[in-house]
Amino acid sequence: MTHPEFLPIQWKSTHLELLDQRILPGKKEFLKIVSVEETILAIREMAVRGAPAIAITGVFGLTLGAKSRVGVASSKDIDSLLTSVLESRPTAVNLSYAIREAKNRIQGITDWSLITEVWESYGKEMVKLDLSANRALGENGLSLFPKDQSEYHIITHCNTGALATAGHGTALGVIRSLRDAGKKVIVYADETRPFLQGSRLTAFEMMEEGIECYIITDGMSGWLMNHRKIDAVLVGCDRVAANGDTANKIGTYNLGIVAKEHGVPFYVCATKDSFDLNLKTGDEIPIEMRKESEVTQFDFLKTEDGKFLFPEGKTSPIGARALNPSFDVTKAHLIKNFITEFGCFVPEEISVRLKNV
Ligand code: MRU
Repeated sequence: MTHPEFLPIQWKSTHLELLDQRILPGKKEFLKIVSVEETILAIREMAVRGAPAIAITGVFGLTLGAKSRVGVASSKDIDSLLTSVLESRPTAVNLSYAIREAKNRIQGITDWSLITEVWESYGKEMVKLDLSANRALGENGLSLFPKDQSEYHIITHCNTGALATAGHGTALGVIRSLRDAGKKVIVYADETRPFLQGSRLTAFEMMEEGIECYIITDGMSGWLMNHRKIDAVLVGCDRVAANGDTANKIGTYNLGIVAKEHGVPFYVCATKDSFDLNLKTGDEIPIEMRKESEVTQFDFLKTEDGKFLFPEGKTSPIGARALNPSFDVTKAHLIKNFITEFGCFVPEEISVRLKNV
């Protein structure tokens, strides 16, 4: 089931509408995006985020860029247009595949209006493919949960739901499939500092659908695994290397270690476009470093009347320094299975399984 409000990326022929994830859950507002420059900014500033969502948005951004060049620019500009979108965020591999495919599809075409058409239909195709891949992934995930159980307790990290994709979700897609199969699911959503994708976005999605959800801070998973029976950890991913090392939102690696220590199965939900077999190990995955201020202050969390929750948004001494790697790499040996639209498999099987898709 896909909630209609959960279509975060809406192509409107003349422009793009993006559900602004910086202000959720306080406000549900769509941003009207009319240019490639605005698209790049929306990706950089995380008005739209999540690996599949970024890739789809990037292609619609290219479409807007091509449209604005009809009759006014030469086709020499194509590569710089592609590069500008590619560079908007570095870690998720989905965006680079999308840009490569966008380039392939216009080989030999120099007319901007034709290019616009090609990219527009590619963007629409991506939306459809992502939705169907997510649904298949969700169904495949069911096989990893004991059938004789009626209730499952699941920890998740970041937001991997409709908001991060074309409208269904990967790890949250599995949770939705369990619910649709008549199971009771209790979700523990890591808060996911500093951008709070877990407490702001995952909790929001789960509540909208009536799935029981408890927010925990990122350091609470060890306590939880000690005190409650946790059936699985389900996370998404931004890039998976050939050996199975997986980049995902910062904090995923810690969760993987804690899960291993407690014998809790740790599953990575990934679609085909998450795998980067050009990289042998996770050490080669580029990790995005974001602004220190995301860690030292909460200035994106304002009350309705525009006042800061903390004076001037600060939660640290003035002048305090911070580190803000936005992703980390979970080592393959911590991962029990990948759950994909083409089945579930262990890290060692990646290259064989990817050959056939
Ligand atoms: O920085 P974000 O919010 O774009 O990071 C998102 C994640 O790390 C998700 O877990 C990942 O992209 C998978 S979404 C299906």
